[in-house]
Amino acid sequence: MKTYSIALVPGDGIGPAVTDAAWQVVETVARGSGFVVEGARLPWSCDHYLETGAMMPDDGIAVLREHDAILLGAVGWPAKVPDSISLHGLLLPIRKAFRQYANIRPHRLLPGVEGPLRKSEFDILCVRENTEGEYSGAGGRVHQGSEDEVAVETAIFTRKGVERILRFGFEQARRRRGKLASVTKSNAQRHSMVFWDEVARDLAREYADVEVTSYHIDAIAARMVMAPETLDVVVASNLFGDVLTDLGAAIQGGLGFAASANLNPDRTTPSMFEPVHGSAPDIAHLGVANPIAAIWSGAMMLDHLGQTDAADRVMGAIETVTARGIGTIPGKHKTDEITRAVLAALD
Ligand SMILES: NC(=O)c1ccc[n+]([C@@H]2O[C@H](COP(=O)([O-])OP(=O)(O)OC[C@H]3O[C@@H](n4cnc5c(N)ncnc54)[C@H](O)[C@@H]3O)[C@@H](O)[C@H]2O)c1
Repeated sequence: MKTYSIALVPGDGIGPAVTDAAWQVVETVARGSGFVVEGARLPWSCDHYLETGAMMPDDGIAVLREHDAILLGAVGWPAKVPDSISLHGLLLPIRKAFRQYANIRPHRLLPGVEGPLRKSEFDILCVRENTEGEYSGAGGRVHQGSEDEVAVETAIFTRKGVERILRFGFEQARRRRGKLASVTKSNAQRHSMVFWDEVARDLAREYADVEVTSYHIDAIAARMVMAPETLDVVVASNLFGDVLTDLGAAIQGGLGFAASANLNPDRTTPSMFEPVHGSAPDIAHLGVANPIAAIWSGAMMLDHLGQTDAADRVMGAIETVTARGIGTIPGKHKTDEITRAVLAALD
């Protein structure tokens, strides 16, 4: 029987509770679909940092490499460990080491979920560049603390990086409704974004079946609020994608519903699946974290592993549950209740 080995990194705060929920659903759907998932639970977190001085052990990347995929909860506990340590000690090294260059996030309203917009008919897939651009880390500071202080943060756009993320966006559009929105700011950023537009134009010739439109970041932010139904796949640089996907999470009803995948599309290394939300220290241990974003991320993992029927069954179960008003209002249902309802809907 086909067996998948999954690294589970529950992390901090509500991370363990939502990862447990997602894992129960993944195990259950696997049993009913004729394949096996084996989970290896890794305790890498801020507590681990306080105990050992590192967010993950020196051979952490080598350990993860042995698995087919990574399911992550949330990382961060700012009261005990600075976010710069938790982020740079765990999440970012994984994304970089495994060349998970495509961060994808679906934005649509689940049945029964009321978003802040008057519109409810939208289905957007945001594709964010995940390894370079404005977050490349290149730069420095001089004359610190003096009135002559200078800070420089250099955005790095490589042909390889830009081409592969745009190509990934075109491929996704081809599989969906055939529309690609390429996010730019070439009126103000006359080097990097003009380059981005050129590469998009070159690739468009290969994808004559995809309708590609270039939008400035400010214009598309407004469009996501005013006319989200006009968008299909949105492809953006690291910073622009970061901002747009928070907007996407907001219009789909909040962080409890926002799922994501960090993909290595060439599949030579494991990809990582995680809810968009963080560790939510304010509600950790109250048992009220919404597990739907994590369960949806689990469905994205199954889809990536090629188990599309199982992924569809999980999405169907989530939608059955939210249509009944379970998990749609913050705090009304406990994490366990929502999880049990999804498990029951799988039957
Ligand atoms: N990928 C990640 O692991 C990730 C992402 C974002 C933030 N973080 C980290 O998480 C910590 C807390 O960050 P934050 O407070 O800015 O963001 P957060 O996402 O943890 O929480 C923001 C707000 O949303 C609520 N919320 C989040 N997820 C929820 C859920 N599933 N159900 C119900 N309510 C939910 C929280 O209670 C909080 O009020 C920080 O250390 C931050 O660095 C980690």
